[in-house]
Parts: sequence; structure tokens; C-alpha cells
Amino acid sequence: MIQGFTVRRALPFDAPKVIAVIDAVGAEGIWLATDRYVPTPQWEQVLHHPDAEPRALLLVAETQKKIVGWCRVFPYKFGDKSLHVADIGIGVHRDSRRLGIGSALLSDAISLARSQGFEKLTLDLYSSSEIARHLFERVGFQIVGIRSRHAKINGTYVNEILMEMKL
Ligand SMILES: CC(C)(COP(=O)(O)OP(=O)(O)OC[C@H]1O[C@@H](n2cnc3c(N)ncnc32)[C@H](O)[C@@H]1OP(=O)(O)O)[C@@H](O)C(=O)NCCC(=O)NCCS
Repeated sequence: MIQGFTVRRALPFDAPKVIAVIDAVGAEGIWLATDRYVPTPQWEQVLHHPDAEPRALLLVAETQKKIVGWCRVFPYKFGDKSLHVADIGIGVHRDSRRLGIGSALLSDAISLARSQGFEKLTLDLYSSSEIARHLFERVGFQIVGIRSRHAKINGTYVNEILMEMKL
């Protein structure tokens, strides 16, 4: 049972615990594009060398020294015409959901992204992820596109929903 939690920026020593919670959410097999952490350049940088790209943001939720959730804000990665745009992603360990952790992570991430000078946040999620969609719509994200039958989860096609929020 969770007594309380704090949301803070991730530090390099958090990396193994962050990867563990990403692996746990991924292993559920229905929420994320991959079933485990994939070391993309942006992820590796924000986890291990956060000072190298100060505009990238990784927040973690911690309870009793355990990392139970994350929210990432990654600057849009292609070219220099979209420096005002960042892409966001979030996850909370299944044992720690429905306690307000996702809301707290997202709220802090949006505030920090705004103060960092970003003007728009984007994200994508599966049409089957109704809880996440509810959370994103509550804080102001709007659906701007749908990629039909973009993923197959347990043999069933789902759409990919593209959402945006102006900051
Ligand atoms: C989406 C997610 C981050 C929410 O985290 P959380 O800590 O449970 O969120 P909160 O406790 O702050 O709840 C957020 C809202 O969702 C609702 N909610 C959460 N779990 C719910 C459930 N099982 N059934 C119905 N509503 C639920 C809450 O009531 C709350 O709504 P409200 O603010 O209108 O009352 C979490 O469910 C998760 O990690 N999902 C898997 C990863 C994912 O889908 N990521 C999105 C793709 S980037």
C-alpha cells in the first residue's frame, strides 16, 4: 500500500529502476509499443547523461525509494523547424495506479515543458488505452488524428490515436 509519493526529475542513478518500471509496464503487452525498454538515443541520453540535452525531461514518481512511474518529454527529434514541439509519454506500475500518480506526473511535466519554452506537446496511444486517453483529455490534449488498425494487440487490430496540446 502506498503511503505517499514524490515527483522529481530523474537522476542518472535512477536509471536501473526507471528501466525496471518501463519493463514492467511494457510486459503487460497492451499499452506501449514495445514490451520492454528499448535503448533509443533519446532515452539513453535522458537516463544516463541528462545534462547533454537539458531540454529533454524525465520525471519519476517515487514512493519509499521505489520508482513507480515516469513521464518523459522529448524534444521533437527531426530537424530544427520544430524546436518548439516535444513528445510526451507516461507510465505507472500497475500496483501503483489510481492513486493520482499519473495525474501528478503529467501535471508537473506540462508545467516544466511550458517553462522550458515548448509551445506544443504531442503524443500517441492506442485506441484501447481508454484510461490514458481520459487522463490526457482531462489536462487539455485533443485528438488530431487516427491511424487505423495501426497495431495488432493479442490478435486484435487497434487504432493509434494522435493527440496534441498547445501550451
Ligand atoms: C495512464 C496511467 C499513466 C494513469 O496513471 P494513474 O496513476 O493510474 O493515474 P491517476 O491515478 O492520476 O488517474 C488518472 C485518471 O484516470 C482514472 N483512472 C485510473 N485508473 C482507472 C481505471 N482502472 N478505471 C477507470 N478510471 C481510471 C482516474 O479516476 C483519473 O480520472 P479523474 O482524474 O477524472 O478522476 C496508467 O494507467 C498507466 O500507466 N497506463 C499504462 C501506460 C499507458 O497507457 N501510457 C499511455 C501511453 S503514453
